[in-house]
Amino acid sequence: MKSKRSYATVMVTGGAGFIGSHVVKRLVKRYPSMRVINVDLLTYAGNLANLASIEDAPNYRFVHADITDTAAMRSLMEEEGVDAVVHLAAESHVDRSILDPDCFARTNVMGTLSLLNAALATWNKRPEGFEGKMFYQISTDEVFGALGAGDAPFCESTPYNPHSPYSASKASADHFVRAYHDTYGLPVVISNCSNNYGPNQFPEKLIPLVINNVRHGRTIPVYGQGLNVRDWLYVGDHAAAIDLILHTAEPGSTYCIGGDNEWRNIDIVKELVRIADQKLGRKAGASEGLITYVADRKGHDLRYAIDATRIRTELGWRPEVDFTTGLALTVEWYLANDKWLDDITSGEYVRYYERMYSGR
Ligand code: NAD
Ligand code: TYD
Repeated sequence: MKSKRSYATVMVTGGAGFIGSHVVKRLVKRYPSMRVINVDLLTYAGNLANLASIEDAPNYRFVHADITDTAAMRSLMEEEGVDAVVHLAAESHVDRSILDPDCFARTNVMGTLSLLNAALATWNKRPEGFEGKMFYQISTDEVFGALGAGDAPFCESTPYNPHSPYSASKASADHFVRAYHDTYGLPVVISNCSNNYGPNQFPEKLIPLVINNVRHGRTIPVYGQGLNVRDWLYVGDHAAAIDLILHTAEPGSTYCIGGDNEWRNIDIVKELVRIADQKLGRKAGASEGLITYVADRKGHDLRYAIDATRIRTELGWRPEVDFTTGLALTVEWYLANDKWLDDITSGEYVRYYERMYSGR
């Protein structure tokens, strides 16, 4: 196993979102002597309620800011003496990217470039230079494109071939991150993860959407024939991988992270409906009629799958939450946190949505 690096101050972007909030909570709790600065714009997807358990921790600070504001990012990094950036802030939903690609270019591409420039300028001014610094880009398996049914899973050497505006924006950001390493020597690392699930995910994504719709007795839309395949990983296992990579990966390296857990959408939807009905005390099959096949997503990638051999063998990571346990935990969490669901799907979400799509 590789030796562990330590940091005095880590800046996490997008820490009020789904994965970011799990990462922030993990880092704040596990490393009490490390300062964790969470920079988040609080778009519809950001929710400070996700961080209630650590909001008063002495090693935690929340900063409400936009990552595209390079001057603000630079002065924050200088003021706080940030020595690592874990960059998760993004527009993350494929369906939205089909409606409004520009917003994805702005946040995901220009936002990443802004942070790279802020890190470069800040660290270049330090006497120790890039020593002990790290810019960690959290990316997705969607940058690799789509697999056919019999294709080998994506791995670190798979060429980028994005199809959706979302994956194109993430791929573009990743290319900038690599370019800053190759051109300026910025210490960077990138990881590409498969689909995450678990508590605190905005209910526009498949798993929380199904649970929320069963709860309300609403139609559950399955795109196309429901035969698209995703590789699902529990969010806590992704947060653990991010922690490990941040502290042990070599600058310039790349890791693929996945659950080795491929499911067709229709099978996962049926399983979720079954679990949710059971936990709600409804009779078996009560909500199955809600499942409705609808028009397919434009350019819908058929299959994603990850070969996580490198992170398993080099860093000793492996997922700890099996899918049966993880799904049960997840359904329980959403059913127990109905106020979280209702709050996040009203108020700011609606205002953000209206702002984004006004004039269309
Ligand atoms: P999310 O949509 O739940 O959260 C995104 C967060 O970023 C929100 O808190 C939002 O307020 C914040 N944000 C958006 N624009 C911002 C801006 N301009 N300035 C500051 N903050 C801003 O996203 P997620 O699902 O948690 O994904 C986090 C990261 O992980 C993304 O980069 C995504 O591409 C990547 N990823 C996600 C998955 C997945 O399955 N969800 C899988 C692999 C990789
Ligand atoms: P999603 O959670 O949006 O993640 P991604 O598109 O990034 O993989 O969707 C997961 C899969 O579920 C994807 O194949 C699209 C499909 N899907 C539906 O069939 N119905 C829905 O309402 C949603 C949101 C997704």
